[in-house]
Parts: sequence; structure tokens; C-alpha cells
Amino acid sequence: MQSFDLVVIGSGPGGYVGAIRAAQLGLKTAVVEKDPTFGGTCLNVGCIPSKALLDSSEHFSVANHEFAAHGIGAKDITIDVPTMLKRKDKVVSDNTNGIAFLFKKNKITSFRGRGRLKSATEVEVLKLDGTTEILSAKNIMLATGSVANELPFMKFDGKNIISSTEALTLTKVPKKMVVIGAGAIGLELGSVWQRLGAEVTVIEFATKICGPMDAGLSDRLCKILQKQGIKFILGAKTTGAQTKGNFTTVQFETVADGAKQTLEADVVLVAVGRKPFSEGLGLEELGIVKDARGFVTVNEHYQTKFANVFAIGDLIPGPMLAHKAEEEGVAVAEIISGRPGHVNYETVPGVIYTWPEFSAVGYTEEQLKASQVEYNVGTFPFSANGRARAAMQTDGMVKVLAHKTTDRLLGVHIVGPRASDLIHEAVVCMEFGGSAEDLARSFHAHPTFAEAIREAALACDGRARQM
Ligand code: NAI
Repeated sequence: MQSFDLVVIGSGPGGYVGAIRAAQLGLKTAVVEKDPTFGGTCLNVGCIPSKALLDSSEHFSVANHEFAAHGIGAKDITIDVPTMLKRKDKVVSDNTNGIAFLFKKNKITSFRGRGRLKSATEVEVLKLDGTTEILSAKNIMLATGSVANELPFMKFDGKNIISSTEALTLTKVPKKMVVIGAGAIGLELGSVWQRLGAEVTVIEFATKICGPMDAGLSDRLCKILQKQGIKFILGAKTTGAQTKGNFTTVQFETVADGAKQTLEADVVLVAVGRKPFSEGLGLEELGIVKDARGFVTVNEHYQTKFANVFAIGDLIPGPMLAHKAEEEGVAVAEIISGRPGHVNYETVPGVIYTWPEFSAVGYTEEQLKASQVEYNVGTFPFSANGRARAAMQTDGMVKVLAHKTTDRLLGVHIVGPRASDLIHEAVVCMEFGGSAEDLARSFHAHPTFAEAIREAALACDGRARQM
């Protein structure tokens, strides 16, 4: 029997990053992966392929709608969907091969097959050829991620009613697409197919888009996406769907008054959240506790009821984000090695990769009001930012929230160009316990999109200069 200091089950961002950190710290490490390639949902059917399609479709949209204003003539712009998908697949394989390379480089042993806890110190690997192998493990990290939620009255059929996985592989642009759920997946993949020509309608249960993100900026993004052509039906609950031939009729009712309506679509993307994936892991047999929603219960050191069996990422409560899983994987590797592994959940950034993008870190105004924290707010629109004007990217704004008396930075929210990259100066500032004044006094090169953050920080104290 092969024995290891750490056996990681799952090779998504949490598992593979945690395994690499463990190997760097000198632990003899193995990773067990059931899928043919490493990388989990994020690399294979999530973050990476969706960003590849978002970039392709954004180029198409810019060529169609913005080139003319730049004086660039481009007639009869077409989209060749199979070529776009081929490029996306290459991006994915380059990334997943990169992990295989990193495993080799760090002397991590990988096993192909389904991992299951046989005991608190043994992992059984059910291999593709049907044979099993038992690995002896001093420590085990469960990093099996999550799967898409299914609506019971609207089961996935992979063709008309699809999850995000199939929405990444449609071989032609649907004529009419209905998206259920205005969270990150619905808005990102809805954007991809809308830019390419689909008529997209998003049905959302809540009265706002973007889940718990800042309400004011969510509304602003909603208006921008509507201007781009996406239709939103908010405050509406999907109740059923019937597929006849190539068409699906989606039934929904308005939450406020129960009024029933229907919509026709050739593709329905169901994006109503994800749930932890722990089936077949052997948790029940060992009495490892899960909560009512299926999340594995762990203590602040990510330990289950067994001190040497850890769980991280989408399998445990918290935001279902690749970078949150990564940090937890690193923390576990460090804890096992006797170091103080720690994750600061106050500064986890969130991004929705529409265009413009929506990013945030820290508290929203709604959260601060609910917890009666007094704050100053400073805002700055990209329409007043020189670089944004030069780039014709003036949609959106920055909102900075700082404590009323201490000026400590409590939250930064951005709808705007490259918001996904811009947010990180706020993350670092908050990590250091910085203030709005710290952001405002730090150099920002001119002209850059980032100056909008500085102006919003200045505006917390009524000192914005460019407005
Ligand atoms: P989500 O939880 O973010 O949003 C789902 C939305 O569906 C909610 O707004 C909910 O109110 C709505 N909904 C639920 N049932 C409904 C019904 N019957 N009818 C109408 N609306 C309904 O889930 P999503 O977008 O599927 O994403 C899953 C997870 O993956 C999230 O945790 C998300 O953060 C993560 N993710 C993150 C990305 C990013 O960081 N850019 C990209 C993609 C996913």
C-alpha cells in the first residue's frame, strides 16, 4: 500500500493549490481525481472556459458596435461558433495540462479514479478500469467542489434545458434563450449568447440581479445590460417547463401577485446556484457531519470530526469561489505542517464578468445599515474618468464605503471597465486595515481607470477633484 502525508480528493483550485503548497512544505502528497483532466469545475467547465467565451463574444460585440466610432471599417462581421469553441477548448487544455506539469514538478503523485474515505486514514480509489487501490494517508483533504442545482420541475436534458456546462458548448447561437437566475452564471453566460445574437430573457426570483451584491450598483448594471439587449423579468418564480420538439415553454409567476405567464425558448439555461458535491465520498459511513444544505461541517481549522480529515472550498459553507477554495487549500497545507494557516474572509473579492464587470470587496451599504455601522460613502462615475472616456468605456461607477469616525475602509464596489482587476488595490488596502484616506493619498498613474477608485475615496470626505 502506498502511503502519503496528505491525500487530496479533488483537483480543482482548492485541491490542486493546496496539494502544491503541501508539497512545497515537504509533505509527501497525492491527488485523486475522477475526471480525465485536472482542474475541476473552474478549469474544465467553469471560470476558465466561460472567460474564454466572454472574451470572444466581447470582441464580436465591440467589432459590431464600437469599431465605427473609432473609424475602423469592418463589414459583414461574422461569428464562427465552432472556431470560437475550439479556441476555448485549447485554453482549457493548456490550463489543465499546466496542472499536470505542476504536479510533476512538485513531485505530487496523481491517481485517476473516484476517491472515497475507507477510514480516517485510508482513501480508496475506484479506478476507471474497475479496480480499486487503497492509499494510506496521515492526512486527507476533501476538495470535491460542487454541482449545479437542478429545479425539480425542470430537469436538465442537456439540450433544451441545460446547466452552465452545456451553455459552454452550444454549437450554434440559440434564437431565444431563457436564463433562470440572475447570479454570476446567468449573467455571464447570458451575456455571451446575447452578444452573439441570441434574444436573452433572464427570469429572477429576487427583485434585483447579482444576489447579495450592492443594491445600487446591481441596479446600475441591470440598466446597462438592458441597454445591451438582455431582458429581465425580476420578482418572478419559475414553476415549470414543457419541451415539444425543439422548443421549451417556461412557466413562471410574479412573486408579488401570483400572475402566471409563459415564455418560449429554444434553450433554457438553469443557473439557480450550486450545491456541495459529497456523494459517494464515504462521509455518512464515517459519521462526518453535514448541515441541512449538504455542506460539510468543519471547525476553524477546516477539520471534520477527525482532526486529520479536512474539508475545503465549495464543500464547506462560504462563498463558492475558486479563490476562496485556493486560500483554504493553502491554509490546510500550512496547518498540517504546523504553521498558522489562516483565511481572512473579510476581504474575499467577488466578480461578475459581464461587460462592464462588477466587482466588490467588503461590506455593502445594506449590510452596514443592517448592523448599524455608521459610514461615509464616496462615489465616482467612469463617465468623469479621462481614460474611460478615451476608451469609450464610461458605463459604471465606483463606490467606496469607509467608517464614519475611523475612516477604515469597509467596502469597495465597482461596476466598470476591468473592475475585476481594479478591485485588488482595495483588497490589499483592507488586508492592511487601511482607510479611504490611504487609498486617496496613494499615487494613481494618470490616466488610468484606477483613478476612479481614488476619486471615490476622496469623495468619502467630499474632496473628489474631477467632479
Ligand atoms: P447564484 O446563487 O449566484 O444565483 C442564482 C439566482 O437564481 C439567485 O439570484 C436566485 O434568486 C435565483 N433563483 C433561484 N431559483 C429560482 C427560480 N425558481 N426562478 C427564478 N430565479 C431563481 O447561482 P449561480 O449564478 O448559478 O452560480 C453558482 C455559484 O457559482 C455561485 O456561488 C457563484 O458565486 C459561483 N460562480 C461564480 C462566478 C464568478 O465568480 N464570476 C462565476 C460563476 C459561478
